Amino acid sequence: MSDLTPYRVVCVVGTRPEAIKMAPVVLALREDPRFEPFLLATGQHAQMLYQALEPFGLVPDVDLRIMKEKQSLDYVTASVLEKVGEVLDRWTPRAILVHGDTTTTMAATLAGFYRHLPVGHVEAGLRSRDMDKPFPEEMNRVVTDRLSSLWFAPTEGSRDNLLGEGVREDRIWVTGNTVIDALLWTRSRVEIPGEPALGPVLGNVPFLLVTAHRRESWGAPLESIARSVKELLDRHGDLHAVVPMHRNPEVREILRRHLGSEERAILCDPLDYPDFVWAMSRARLILSDSGGVQEEASALRKPVLILREVTERPEALTSGSGILVGTSEERILQTAGGLLQDSAAYETLQQRCGTPFGDGKASERIAEALGTFLTQSGIKGCRG
Ligand code: UD1
Ligand code: UDP
Repeated sequence: MSDLTPYRVVCVVGTRPEAIKMAPVVLALREDPRFEPFLLATGQHAQMLYQALEPFGLVPDVDLRIMKEKQSLDYVTASVLEKVGEVLDRWTPRAILVHGDTTTTMAATLAGFYRHLPVGHVEAGLRSRDMDKPFPEEMNRVVTDRLSSLWFAPTEGSRDNLLGEGVREDRIWVTGNTVIDALLWTRSRVEIPGEPALGPVLGNVPFLLVTAHRRESWGAPLESIARSVKELLDRHGDLHAVVPMHRNPEVREILRRHLGSEERAILCDPLDYPDFVWAMSRARLILSDSGGVQEEASALRKPVLILREVTERPEALTSGSGILVGTSEERILQTAGGLLQDSAAYETLQQRCGTPFGDGKASERIAEALGTFLTQSGIKGCRG
């Protein structure tokens, strides 16, 4: 290092998945004397953000608290851009790190770009190649990658996507996905099965774990997902469904209307991450439109029906446990029904599962790459 003062690095998070996937990075930077990491929450999510950070013992250094009910994309974009910009001016970091594909990610990247700051994109290079699916996340990824200076690609495939778009090869690091770091960290600290909130309620019954929240699924697709879950419960007398509902009222209303009176459907608030990890490990099948859950499920060797038309995580399909079923009732019932009835097919799928998303050391690699980049660029630490 060219001077002895640490590099101030602002790690930006806004939503639940960013919190879970950035947490191990913040912990790795804290361990490394080369860095002085700051955790900046935009507050795009409120309760769900704190719930996700809490198991890692993290509290934001600043929370911009922008969330409001029925927030528009315009509102979130403008608020994050302006308020993150103000914090960057105040804190004068040497680099910022953003994660993934949310509006926080894209707008914070723009704020960094406007200040000529190196922006490191964690989980860079994912592409569905359809700007409408997922919406607006595909655009967020493309814009974020266009404006970044350091690209932390989770897989070789995401690296290839970046190279195909002309990104400099010497600025891409294939690190694995930090969600695997978070998952392994959590499993090593929380006994599974331990005393999870749902343990006593569920006993040993087989259950589906269902999460759905994507913007492009609001309305008819989500209705179809909820009807499918109800039908699966009707067809399988011992089956339960655990449905941790996203706090978005648009999502909750539909799930409650279709499943609220089902005796074997457990509609609950979002689970704490350790409890959710427990639920994924114990579920017979996972039905989800979540990005992170696709990655975690493969690491847990758990079949997951992906409730989307396209995925930017092809590794979940080729060497993971994912099956792309979309949101049509017919397809969900056919695929889930098949796996619930045919234990041989279920076991084959489980045996096929690999761990394409990483080995749990992504955060260490990111810290190493960032430190080397800052030193080699001749950038000075903050108090020098
Ligand atoms: C956001 C991201 C999405 C990500 C998801 C993770 C964008 C445009 N969308 O979608 O990429 O997959 O987070 O969950 O960046 N709410 C609460 N409390 C909370 C969180 C949300 O009440 O703690 C409610 C609020 O009414 C809020 C609404 O949910 O207005 C929607 O939140 P928003 O972040 O805009 O969209 P998500 O669907 O959560
Ligand atoms: N998750 C959680 N509690 C829940 C549901 C999900 O902790 O009740 C975790 C899950 O393990 C994954 C992340 O939240 O790490 C996924 O978040 P979400 O589905 O909101 O966003 P996406 O991954 O689709 O962007």
